[in-house]
Amino acid sequence: MPDALNVFKSSLSYLETRGMRYVRLDTRAGREPEIMIEGGNETLDDIRTDLGDCKRCGLSRFRTNIVFGEGNPDADLMFIGEGPGEDEDLSGRPFVGKAGRLLTDIIAAMKTTRENVYIANIVKCRPPGNRTPMDDEVICCVPFLMRQISAISPRVIVSLGAPAASALFNKKVKISSVRGRFCDFAQGIKLMPTFHPAYLLRNPKDKRLVWEDMQKIMDYLKLR
Ligand code: URA
Repeated sequence: MPDALNVFKSSLSYLETRGMRYVRLDTRAGREPEIMIEGGNETLDDIRTDLGDCKRCGLSRFRTNIVFGEGNPDADLMFIGEGPGEDEDLSGRPFVGKAGRLLTDIIAAMKTTRENVYIANIVKCRPPGNRTPMDDEVICCVPFLMRQISAISPRVIVSLGAPAASALFNKKVKISSVRGRFCDFAQGIKLMPTFHPAYLLRNPKDKRLVWEDMQKIMDYLKLR
C-alpha cells in the first residue's frame, strides 16, 4: 500500500504525464518540499471535460454521479472535504446532506456564501458505505483536485477532517495535531486544517474550535 508521500509523488508524476509544468517540488537541500503552482491557464470546464465519465479507479463502479465541485471559479476561499456521501452521490453536488447544511451555516457565519466560495472533495465519487477513500483512489483523483486548485488559485484552502488534511499535507496527519494552524500549501495559498462538519454533528462542543479557525481566516481575508 503506498504511503502518503508516494500518493503525492504519484500525483505530481501524473500531472507531468498530462504535460503540466506548473506544479513542481522544491527539493533544495535543507528545505521542506514545497509545491509551486505557476499559473496554469486551463479552466474548471477544461478539467471537467478531461475527467469525463471517469473510470480511473474502482469507485466509479458504485457511483450515481461524479461530484466535481461547485462554486465561484475565482474564489478566495476553498473548502475541501473527504468524499461524497449518499446525498452528494445522488445530486452530483458537494456537501448537500446534513454535514453539508452545517458547512453552509459555517460559511454564512463567515459573512460569505456558498456561491462565493468553492467546495470540492479529495475524491469525486462516493466510497461505498462512506468509508475513507483508499490510497489508490486518492492517487487517481487528487491530480484533478490539484488542477482545480491551480485554476481557482484561492488564497485560503480549508481542509475538512483528517483524510483531507493528510492528502493535502502529503503525509498521514492526526487532525488534533494540525487543526487550527495556518500553513503554506503553495505559493500564495494558505492551508487551514479543521474538523469535518460530520465530526461536529457528533461532537458539537468542538464547534467552538472550528469557529476559532474560521475567525482566523476571516481576519486574513478581511471578511468582516
Ligand atoms: N462529506 C464530505 O467529505 N464531502 C461531501 O461532499 C459530503 C460529506
